[in-house]
Amino acid sequence: MSDLLALRGGPAVWSEGWPEWPQTGPDTERRLRETLHGGRWAISGEWTGQRPQEARLADRFARFVGARWCVPVDHGTSALLIALQTAGVRPGDEVIVPGLTWVACASVVARAGAVPVLADVDPRTLCVDPAAVDAAVTPRTAAILAVHLYSAMAEMDALQAIAERHGLALIEDAAQAYGATWRGQGAGTLGLSGAFSAQQGKALTSGEGGLFVTSSREVRDRAEMLRGDGRRYGPGPHTRGQPDMEEADVVQGWNMHLTEFQSTLLLDGLERLDEQNRTRARAAKTLDERLTEQDDLEPIEPYAANDTRAYYHYAIRLKKDGFGGRGAEAVAEALSAELGRWIRPPYRPLNEHPLYDPRRLPSGTVPEAATRLDPTRFELPVARRESARTVLLHHSMLLGNQRHLDAVVEAFAKVRHLAAQLAPVGDS
Ligand SMILES: Cc1ncc(COP(=O)(O)O)c(C=O)c1O
Repeated sequence: MSDLLALRGGPAVWSEGWPEWPQTGPDTERRLRETLHGGRWAISGEWTGQRPQEARLADRFARFVGARWCVPVDHGTSALLIALQTAGVRPGDEVIVPGLTWVACASVVARAGAVPVLADVDPRTLCVDPAAVDAAVTPRTAAILAVHLYSAMAEMDALQAIAERHGLALIEDAAQAYGATWRGQGAGTLGLSGAFSAQQGKALTSGEGGLFVTSSREVRDRAEMLRGDGRRYGPGPHTRGQPDMEEADVVQGWNMHLTEFQSTLLLDGLERLDEQNRTRARAAKTLDERLTEQDDLEPIEPYAANDTRAYYHYAIRLKKDGFGGRGAEAVAEALSAELGRWIRPPYRPLNEHPLYDPRRLPSGTVPEAATRLDPTRFELPVARRESARTVLLHHSMLLGNQRHLDAVVEAFAKVRHLAAQLAPVGDS
């Protein structure tokens, strides 16, 4: 092992590359070509005599997660917006959101005209702490947004109980939890509705994209119209050269359509997803075991009911005095240089995130709204502490071979050994 960190000009632990992401399969190009020449690139196009890829994807994905219905959309954020709208969230209502998550989970609440209320997280999972959710309920609360973060599911039993007790809608954000289960039931199917993102980095991707799932017929019907400027598939029979979508005259929607190319890619990716998830889970188990052989790293501790885990990022925590007391940011930077991949610290808590301040929205300039939307009024000490000591490996790093895992273990060992070369605590 070199005695100089790669960050300081020493040789890197690993320079042989990582599994590519996104991945394609043997049929991906053929399928995309078929869509390219199939005469329909969007569901707003005309009936070609073939069911749209989008409708096939809806059936296939609903089966994958175990929901009755799926409505594909253009982004995960759109799936969340539809989840809020179909849950009856109204302007001025409060929605409880974890304080540690991607900014869209909270900003979309403000976009729906409601007030995001940030709740602190459970240090074992980094997902929202049910006790913090319970404490945040007020007479104005309309919904709880549970987010399954990185590789663990939120405590769904407790959140369901809170939602029931207070008569609130429970919405799941499963953007990072494709294939995860809670007592055998798919992430995304444990509340009124579930939202998935198919953005580039996700375990199922079409570059951009989203999937909304529900088992309520009524919610599904509204969701279909909301994502289509108020249109929905007509009952048929359809005529070639005529649209198969009808104008429903029921809701005010927006165009949140997924293109036929994206649907083609997601149908293709779904064929690989289960196998990839199994590979990731095996690799993560190996890393949990090997990285914690030294007493300075702590794995995520999922709840027992989270019987299948799905990995968006593999997360591991630095114990207080490990790595010379350096924070996750410095360690992640050093690991990135050793491994040739971006090893990243988690999200910043939303009460101090540079991308999150809904007071910047036009609606946020109204005096009462500005006070309610102010993210700094929430205290998130656990999110702050845990994000400062956690590092993340993208799930594609778990799709390699034994040598890739050895390199990860060796990189941690090297950074631990040479931690004195990292910036001293407090330097930036
Ligand atoms: C937990 C979570 N929710 C929502 C989103 C938003 O999804 P999108 O970027 O597809 O709009 C993301 C990802 O980017 C996410 O990680």
